[in-house]
Amino acid sequence: MGLLKTEQEVGIAACVIARDVQAFDLLIEDMEAELGPRWGGLDFQDGIAYLSSPEARDLEFVTVAVDRTDEENLEPVIELIRTAVAANIKVILVASDLSPMALHQLLRLGAADFAPYPLPEGALHEAIERIRTPSAAPAAVSTGGGANENREGVILPIYGLAGGVGATTFAVNLAWELAQLGDTEGFRTCILDLDLQMGSVSTYLDLPRREAIFELLSDIPNMDRDAFTSALQSFNDRLDVLTAPAESLPYEILTSDDVNPLLDMARSMYDFVIVDVPKTLIQWSETLINRADVYFALIEMDMRSAQNALRFIRTLKAEDLPIEKVKYVLNHAPRFTDLSGRSRVKRLAENLDIDLEILLPDGGKAVTDSCDQGLPLAETAAKNPLRKEMAKLAKSIFDLSVEQVAAKGGV
Ligand SMILES: Nc1ncnc2c1ncn2[C@@H]1O[C@H](COP(=O)(O)OP(=O)(O)O)[C@@H](O)[C@H]1O
Ligand SMILES: [Mg+2]
Repeated sequence: MGLLKTEQEVGIAACVIARDVQAFDLLIEDMEAELGPRWGGLDFQDGIAYLSSPEARDLEFVTVAVDRTDEENLEPVIELIRTAVAANIKVILVASDLSPMALHQLLRLGAADFAPYPLPEGALHEAIERIRTPSAAPAAVSTGGGANENREGVILPIYGLAGGVGATTFAVNLAWELAQLGDTEGFRTCILDLDLQMGSVSTYLDLPRREAIFELLSDIPNMDRDAFTSALQSFNDRLDVLTAPAESLPYEILTSDDVNPLLDMARSMYDFVIVDVPKTLIQWSETLINRADVYFALIEMDMRSAQNALRFIRTLKAEDLPIEKVKYVLNHAPRFTDLSGRSRVKRLAENLDIDLEILLPDGGKAVTDSCDQGLPLAETAAKNPLRKEMAKLAKSIFDLSVEQVAAKGGV
């Protein structure tokens, strides 16, 4: 690729900078589609020189493409991104098969956006759109008054022990019930979707995934209240939501050193911090259990859940994690009238040697419909049996918190 091939004719709006630009042919195609001839390709050395020069001032952004081979020597990439950031030029990082460590390191330098390579359909377009839309004002998260007081919220992670057991449905509905209960008493609730790859809180609450989320998660060490708040969005004025980022990020983008301050920030501003936990066990899974007040683990009445639960319990014991914080929730539990079902529940609890106190009924198609509509059950099917149980559970958590605050001399 010629160096800034058409600079003289049209003015260059963007560059692709890579060790070997030709190796990223899908990116080249996408850049052509987005910018026509108004972009050029450079290697790292030329890129650093160009970005340091006054001609680069008018660049809208640079796309920095890296792959595994670059990991052997990340220095030029790091210098390049630093140069771009210093020159106020936005960086879209495109990474092919990079180790989480390297990705983490590069994102930290201040890339404005990220896309995996091969590029998913539309990913570059969306990244460019996000860069072009100046960080919109947060969708009315109230930062005034209550949110700035120093609170000491409870942390309630929700973990599904198998795919599709209903963890996110539980998290979203618990959060909404708590948000409503707390509203009159001045209690505040937020939900953090830390399922960075599969996160569906945004779908279940019909909220967009904002660019500021990526900015927040990739630079937690520099997070302040403003950065945190501007990544949140409000659902119906009562529940503040950190959705998963727009592009699915590797879980390792966060470390325990990030998750701790993130939770600290959330609980200093909210009384109830609901966390949707990734299914995969990762480095910071431990952090979430250690920091939890109650750690909800959802299962179903099937072999998959039972076996995963056994493994989970074994891990907790082996790692000496606070097993007593885990409250098991059986979703799609048999009805009271289903006696054989009930005795199966009892057997399951005995076999796993756990208490199964929280039994949630199947709410039928209304539950999936409400997820699809992007509304909590309270708003679409208030009389649904699942909703009734969620409301009861939220009430008991809420009452406990009120008692605790009262005991500490608050409220
Ligand atoms: N108690 C329930 N009754 C009926 N449908 C449910 C119930 N719990 C969850 N679902 C449905 O199951 C599907 C998967 O739920 P989800 O919360 O996304 O699971 P997970 O987050 O554990 O992967 C969704 O369509 C949801 O509406
Ligand atoms: Mg989920």
